[in-house]
Amino acid sequence: AVTNGAEPAINPAFADIAFAFDIDGVLYKGQEGIPGAREMLQKIRQQGLRYVFLTNGGGAHENAKAASLAKRLGIENPEYVLKDRVILSHTPMRGWDDDIKKNGTVLITASQPETARQLARQYGFQRAVTPADLIAANPHIYPFAHLRDSLHKETSPLPDGKSAAAITDPYSRSIPPDALKVDQILVWNDPRDWALDIQVIHDLLVSHRGYLGTLSSHNGDASLADAGWQQDGQPALWISNLDLVWRTEHPVNRFGTGAFLEALKGVWAGVTGGAAPLRYRALGKPSRHTYEYAHERLLRGDGGRKPLRRVYMVGDNPESDIRGANEFAPRDGASWESILVRTGVFQPTETEPEPRYKPTVVVDDVVDAVVWALRNEG
Ligand code: G3P
Ligand code: MG
Repeated sequence: AVTNGAEPAINPAFADIAFAFDIDGVLYKGQEGIPGAREMLQKIRQQGLRYVFLTNGGGAHENAKAASLAKRLGIENPEYVLKDRVILSHTPMRGWDDDIKKNGTVLITASQPETARQLARQYGFQRAVTPADLIAANPHIYPFAHLRDSLHKETSPLPDGKSAAAITDPYSRSIPPDALKVDQILVWNDPRDWALDIQVIHDLLVSHRGYLGTLSSHNGDASLADAGWQQDGQPALWISNLDLVWRTEHPVNRFGTGAFLEALKGVWAGVTGGAAPLRYRALGKPSRHTYEYAHERLLRGDGGRKPLRRVYMVGDNPESDIRGANEFAPRDGASWESILVRTGVFQPTETEPEPRYKPTVVVDDVVDAVVWALRNEG
């Protein structure tokens, strides 16, 4: 068997097909690898098939995710099987080329805030602050200190708040001179201190132009559309994935980043009296942007750019994996087929026997998914 970095011979029958594997609920559940997944990956690598791992997980480096995948599946040659193939929910942000990265300030919330901040800096966000930084700088923001010595322990001083924008802003008289201006809020995965994070996200969404500690005079103005909420230059809110649930070893699905979003929406509805829906943008599956990114990565393959005819998305979550693949129509005319496995989020019940988004096929697990796809190719 090929176990080192040597390039495998490509089986010509599979030269223009590829796989996108979801991770949680497809390759492992919590710490438990799905039986047969390791051997399957070794095999398709040896066949020269193109593949990526397309996960809605996030909050850490792509290489860290590859390392946890290697550990949980017992893959001994991850450099060969996994390297440069992991696409996390926020990975497409690596390619963002915008002014905010260079000149703006972003608030990052994630499961491991300090890890996320370091990664954001590596992605090019020059000024990334975390909720922990905010309460370290001003404890009055959040009067409950129980996580200060653990989750919120690592902090950095806030960047200078007296930005050029503050000086030229026509309303600058009302802005405290040291107020921090946040230009974008990035929720990278499910936060661990929902209460603090909902508080600071709310504070920025009701602020005057993103200056922390201010209030927009438009909030609740009935003469404006949506009663004026989020219409005063507040930071854009990005949610890196919308998964309400995901799958671990536990028999019942667990809440994900989408559940945090639902909580935030609920608080927002309370604050606005239901007058304005929460405005946000999303990345991750099922968003087209994420599938475009994955398609482009697959086209580049392991070396030169090669055309694709068909991509098989193997996933466990109908609302992200299956929906995204079904709705995605790449510009090059290739097709994405969706294969739903029974090892994860999708659990047929008497009241809901069918998945909400219908896949091309439903199979037992990832091994059967690959067997089905290769047979489908004749
Ligand atoms: O937190 C991870 C979860 O939302 C989904 O991961 O690999 O099933 O897309 P995955
Ligand atoms: Mg999954």
